[in-house]
Amino acid sequence: MTNQPPADRSRREFARLFAFGGSAALFTASAGAWRGTPQVAGPAPSSTDERYWAGVRSGFVMPEGLACLNAANLCPSPARVLDAYFDSTRSVDRDPSPQNRQKTRTGREATRRALAASLGVTPEEIVITRNTSESNNFVSSGLDLKAGDEVLIFSDNHPSNHAAWRQKAERFGFLVRTIERVHPHPGPDYYVEAFRRQLTARTRVVAFTHVTASVGDLLPAAELCALAREHGALSLVDGAQSFGVLDLDLSKMEPDFFTGSAHKWPCGPKECGVLFVNRRIHDRIRPSIVSLYPGEVGISRTMEAFGQRDEPSIVGFGEALALQATIGRAAIERRARELAQVLVTGLRAIDGVRVWTDDDPNRSGAIVSFQPAGLDVRKLHQALYESEGIVCATRPGSDRGGLRFSPHFYNLHAEMGRAIDAVRKYVARGV
Ligand SMILES: Cc1ncc(COP(=O)(O)O)c(C=O)c1O
Repeated sequence: MTNQPPADRSRREFARLFAFGGSAALFTASAGAWRGTPQVAGPAPSSTDERYWAGVRSGFVMPEGLACLNAANLCPSPARVLDAYFDSTRSVDRDPSPQNRQKTRTGREATRRALAASLGVTPEEIVITRNTSESNNFVSSGLDLKAGDEVLIFSDNHPSNHAAWRQKAERFGFLVRTIERVHPHPGPDYYVEAFRRQLTARTRVVAFTHVTASVGDLLPAAELCALAREHGALSLVDGAQSFGVLDLDLSKMEPDFFTGSAHKWPCGPKECGVLFVNRRIHDRIRPSIVSLYPGEVGISRTMEAFGQRDEPSIVGFGEALALQATIGRAAIERRARELAQVLVTGLRAIDGVRVWTDDDPNRSGAIVSFQPAGLDVRKLHQALYESEGIVCATRPGSDRGGLRFSPHFYNLHAEMGRAIDAVRKYVARGV
């Protein structure tokens, strides 16, 4: 095999990583093939116990050789979520009668209750949407804003909470002001003051990202929501990068709106999301979609009538939340932060690597972005996947560009070691 080109060799090595119970088996397996996969027996022990987390990991269908460090983009669902989703789908297709489908409607309400419990709020305040993008847009489209009104946003917001506001400002005549992000993270107090300075008597909404997708900067959500409230403005917290990984309690954060996606850190099915609407302001927002089949309680009766939808995926979302509740949300946050910290420390120690993420837990979540010396980021991204079995994201562009690793509770310490070693190797010898 020595005369094989390196790329071919790499692919073969990668194929070997997948050979046992790997992706090929996954794609050809029947839906029930992963039944019997070990399930999480109970809550995480308070100490770091790698065997417990290895057990958690074995409840996922990813092959052992694949280190998925891309939670900020898309998380895998564990086997029990896939089972719940497929069982429910099969049931609907076996018997599509309204009588049988009532079971999935019941499941949808159970998921609403699980969402409310996981966020520390009431089911009456929960809208089950399709993703964070939709949730954010329901807010910017659903409020009565007009010329003379102002909306304060953060410069490092996702387009669904940035470009969306700008488009709607053009349409409805209100003004968008932007708080610029500062690098390195200047600390929570800096941002509270920066927002305070830009608030005026005309500010109607303060819309910011809890943890940024770019480098994982954590914003002081509770303080910013309180500030907005003091000034008579509504707050929208985009929680796409905190929901399902940080141990959230919205009853303490007190946002008016909070948004998130099931398919990111909660490890739920794709195309499911959440919009929390504080009960204080239910009369302030109008539905952007008006159709049949609303939710059964509170704000979902008006804001969640989207017509026919994939209710089995909502059932699966409930199962994903149940798994997190079993492990414990505080333990999940601790674990993800611990793994992120290992990455920050390991990457910083590599000559030429520039880590963009702050290691202070008051300034970061579980996202680690870095510039891998002068390497071509796209080539490195590909080499990490093809030759090392490491999944991550590229961060193209001039704003703190490079690669992004986002570990989660299904990752193991050994995978952090592999990722750091691989980056060190390519930085030393090129890619
Ligand atoms: C901060 C933030 N908001 C919103 C989104 C959009 O999420 P989705 O694609 O699930 O709608 C993302 C996606 O990465 C994000 O990072």
